[in-house]
Order: sequence, then structure tokens, then C-alpha cells
Amino acid sequence: MVTINHRQGEMTKFRTHWCGRLNKENIGEQVRLSGWVSTVRDLGGIIFVEMRDKTGFFQIVADPEKNPESHKIFSQLKDEYVITILGIITERPEDTYNPNLATGAVEVYPENIEILSKSKLLPFMIDDSQEVNEDLRMKYRYLDIRRPKTINNLKLRHDVVTAARNFLNKNEFMEVETPILIKTTPEGARDYLVPSRVQAGKFYALPQSPQIFKQLLMVGGVDRYYQIAKCFRDEDLRADRQPEFTQIDIEMSFVEQEDIIQLTEGLLIDAFKAANIEITPNFPRITYQEAMSRFGSDRPDTRFVLELFDVSEIMAESSFAAFADTVKDGGTVRALCVKGISGYSRKEMDDIRNMAVSFGAKGLAWITYNLDGTVKSPVMKFLTEEEMNAIKEKANAQAGDIVFFVADKHKIVFDVLGRLRLHFGARLGLIDESKHALLWVTDFPMFEYDEEEGRYTSVHHPFTTPNPEDIDKMTSSPGECRSIAYDVVYNGTELGGGSIRIHSPELQQNVFKALGLSEEEANEKFGFMIEAFKYGTPPHGGLALGLDRLIALLAKTDSIREVIAFPKNSQAKCLMTNAPAIASEIQLRELHIKLNTPKNK
Ligand code: AMO
Ligand code: AMP
Repeated sequence: MVTINHRQGEMTKFRTHWCGRLNKENIGEQVRLSGWVSTVRDLGGIIFVEMRDKTGFFQIVADPEKNPESHKIFSQLKDEYVITILGIITERPEDTYNPNLATGAVEVYPENIEILSKSKLLPFMIDDSQEVNEDLRMKYRYLDIRRPKTINNLKLRHDVVTAARNFLNKNEFMEVETPILIKTTPEGARDYLVPSRVQAGKFYALPQSPQIFKQLLMVGGVDRYYQIAKCFRDEDLRADRQPEFTQIDIEMSFVEQEDIIQLTEGLLIDAFKAANIEITPNFPRITYQEAMSRFGSDRPDTRFVLELFDVSEIMAESSFAAFADTVKDGGTVRALCVKGISGYSRKEMDDIRNMAVSFGAKGLAWITYNLDGTVKSPVMKFLTEEEMNAIKEKANAQAGDIVFFVADKHKIVFDVLGRLRLHFGARLGLIDESKHALLWVTDFPMFEYDEEEGRYTSVHHPFTTPNPEDIDKMTSSPGECRSIAYDVVYNGTELGGGSIRIHSPELQQNVFKALGLSEEEANEKFGFMIEAFKYGTPPHGGLALGLDRLIALLAKTDSIREVIAFPKNSQAKCLMTNAPAIASEIQLRELHIKLNTPKNK
């Protein structure tokens, strides 16, 4: 290889400049560039090649008259060959400037070019303009990463993590790694288990989060901890859930909720800045109760106004049994007034009802206010004129609107109407895409009743402190006990959540008791933690931000798979390596495991 002496900093024998950063200022400079062949255009003599490295594209040219030696090699080039070239930057003829390229005003006629590596025919084009099947992209993820969109997502991720680290380092935080092979974390999902070879029949769990360890670091006097932490949760996967994902995990001593909120806002301001988005502090705050009753969700998308309203009082005495009985049984009847859709066809209305039922509703009732002033409804026959008037007034309904009703237990009503609200927000184009709707949801309930298990479980996790005002309710009415837990929400996605923790061993025992854990069970599971808290524990609290979700939102992509270098598919499978895979008989024997699944599964 012909080399030039230009090594400094990030530069190597193979590179004096990055492809995507050359411009008119470099005219006359001798450069060595290395990268991939992106496109080859042979104009019957002159060959134009766009070469690419991680920074972008650059045009190199071979002309049998000007650089005949290089031209011979140019004629062998194919897509994705790896090449290195040496030459002098020249200005392109002005009429051939490429305005779509940052480097579109310059080019090189290489005096030397070498093929460093050849490429097979590609399974898909390395080109953002082509839609490629996701499974194929994941099978060849290393090729997919070459596409500008994917590599730019990884770059954004790096920039945001760097901004977060800088912010936290500047604020007295210390990054500490916590173990991956652990006992179990009570985050509420299923654990991934790892069998122990040396201790027959025993298993490690992979951490669902570093929760316990970060609290023990507070007992250890670390005071301010953070970690870009890998978490593992065996749960049903969705576009915003992966079996392994990353948190920006934070814990602080001698703080209250307000301190954590302010710190997180500072961190998010810097993280958004890394993505060139300016946001301002003092995010709006809303209690869990208010979020549920106005938006039917604990992660409300407030980029549009459509809100739920309560008609339980109006319906309590109505002759429509489905509604009146629900109210009498402690349930609720809520409604949503959707503007300008009175012209929907019967089929459209049936589809909406089916959607509500698929969300868990027993049925969906509605009143249509037609543009001609008439009013139609399948439930009108059950309602008095007075009730109809009261609904119209409460809904502020006008000609053209349809009001939808759901009657059921609170949880179901909120969930169904909350999801219908999002459906109409998207369908009717109500969402203001230019908004960055960040907000805090506070005062989460401490417990929720799990019908299947027949007991109360933690809404956040069992180390979250109850609101001191509600301590008495822990035993008398656990469902009404609030916690000091908070979530930060961005455009309808839960970005992060945290809480102030319990630091008194007695209170911790009482919470375990409220969760139906006997003292023995609590000691078996968390004895080490209860013990630790007996040696002088600072008041502490924290929060974890879902890094993958944050990046996906900043990159404006729907799926967190797009911002993870090597993600799993919806069956928790890695399509590139084919993990999970069968273990050999020897491995299983060493691990004391006998399978009862059919072979080859
Ligand atoms: P939590 O369980 O709320 O809290 O998780 C914090 C944030 O992590 C993200 N997240 C996920 N992202 C991708 N895939 C998943 N499967 C997944 N699950 C969660 C979300 C969520 O808001 N230890 C506590 C935090 C604390 O109390 O400090 C915890 O893990 O964005
Ligand atoms: P029915 O008398 O059961 O045929 O119900 C009359 C209308 O009320 C239908 O449009 C149902 O979908 C609707 N409906 C029934 N139960 C509920 C409910 N729990 N919430 C909302 N609408 C309901």
C-alpha cells in the first residue's frame, strides 16, 4: 500500500480523513480514505464510485485517460467491496455538484486504489430508501447496521449516553457495576434463570433491574450511584419491550421526591440536547388518579386534548340496567365525546365496538348527534329526556359528535376508553407531532389487587415507601394507600419510574406483611436487605429511565429494536445467532438438568 505520513489522533495508516467530512476546504490535500463501495456507475469509460464510511459518502472517479492504473481496479469493483484509496481532493465541475451529499462539491481521482476485501451478492441493498423485511434485516444485522438510518440510531444512542454520563458525573454521581448472576429482584416480571453447575439444583436469576444492589450501595455510603444497566425480564414482548434492555439507573441518598424529579429533568434536558431537541424544565405534574380519570392511562399522551368524563351520577338511577347496576356495584360509567364523526357508517361503528370489546369492555354504547339535529343511539330508549340532556351538557356535545360510553369496574373502563382515546387521536390526526409532551405522574397507588393470586401486589416494587398520610390505610384499605412513586412520561410512553424507598426495617416488614409475605418468607427472600437496613440506612430514593425507549422516541421510531444493536424478535429469539439454542447432553448433565421437552424443539 502506498502510505502517506499523516497519522494523528483518530487517523491510521488506512485513513487520513473521514469520507463524510470532506469539503471544499480540503481541495488540494492528499488524502487516504478507506471504506465500502456504495454504488458503482460505469458511464462507458469513466467510472464513478460512491464510497462510504461511518461518517457518510464520498465520490471517487476513474478515467482511462487520467488515472488508468486505478481505472483497471475500478472496473472490478462491486457493491460493498472494502477499498482504500489515495489521491488529491479536487473540486467537481460546478454543474455536477451533488446537493444531496455533504461532500457533493468535491471528489478524488485516486492515484492508487486497493481492494481490501470482496463482498458476496447482498441479501438486501444497503440503502435507506428500500423497505426491507425486518426478519431479513435481523438475520444480517451487521449489514443492516451499515445502513445510514441504523448506524445513526446507534450514534444517537452513544451521544445520549455520553450526555447522561457527563451530567451525572458533574453532579457527584459514581458509576458502579452490579452483578448479573443474582438471587431475584421483585420487579414483577418473570425471572430468567441460570442453572448452577457447582451447586446442583440451584439457580441464579438475571437482574430485572439493579434495584436491591443500588439500595445496598446507599447503605454502603456511595450516596449517588448510577449505572447504564442491563436488565432482563421474561415477559410478553411488544414494540417497546425487549427481554434484555438498558436502564439509566439512578439512586441517591438524603433526598426527597422533589430532588429526584429536578435531577431527572436536568438529565433529560441534556439528553434531549444531544438529539438537538430543546426542552424546558418544570414538566407538568399530574397525580395518578387525575391521569386515569382524564386520560384513562397512567402514561397519558397529552399532545391532544380529547378527555374522558364521568357520567356515573347521571346513569346511577337510569333504567338501563347495565349502567345503573354497574354504578350500584361500585363500578363506573365514563364517556368520551369525539368531534365530527357522526357520519361514520354502521360498519365503522361495529368495528369500534369490536375494538372496545377486544380491549376488555362488555359492550360499547354511544349517542350520535347528527348534523341535521337528530339524535340516534342504541341506548336512547332506556334514557329519560332529562338524562339525555344532562349527558349532552356534560359532554359539551355538538352536531357532528358521537359520545361513547363504557360501564364496568374502574380499571376496565379507564383502560378501554384510554385506548379508544389513543385510537381516535391517531385516526383523526389530533396529535400535534411537533410537541414534546413530558410530564410527571405522581402519587401512584401502593398496592393493587391481583385477582389471580388473590392478594395485593406492589404497583412499583416492595421497597417503595407508602405516603406517610396513608400509612393507616396499609392494613385498613390497602387499595387506597398511595405511595411516593413517580413516573416520567414522554408523548404517551413511560420513559422512567422510581420511588422514595423505605429505610426503616420495621416499615419494610409491615409492607411485606401487607403483600401477604410471612416474616419467614420475607427473610428467606430479602433477609440480607432487612439485615443491612439495621446498620444505619440513609433515607434514599431513585429512578430508572428506559434508555431504549428514550432513544427510540428521540429517533422517532416505533420499535425499540431499531435502536438496539442486536435485538431479539417478538419470540425473544436472536435471528442472527439463533439464540436460544439447544444445549448438549454433556452441558445438561453437568448442570444436573433433565429435559422433558420433545427433542429438536
Ligand atoms: P421500572 O420497572 O418502572 O422500574 O423500569 C424503569 C423503566 O425501564 C423501562 N423498561 C423497559 N424497556 C424495555 N423493555 C422492557 N421490557 C422494559 N421494562 C421496563 C421503562 C421503565 O419506565 N428498579 C425500578 C426503578 C426504580 O425504582 O428506581 C425499575 O426498574 O422505560
Ligand atoms: P344490550 O341491552 O346488552 O343489547 O346493550 C345495549 C347497548 O349497550 C349495546 O350497544 C351494548 O354494546 C351496550 N352495552 C352493554 N353493556 C355495556 C357496558 N358495560 N358498557 C357500555 N356499553 C354497554
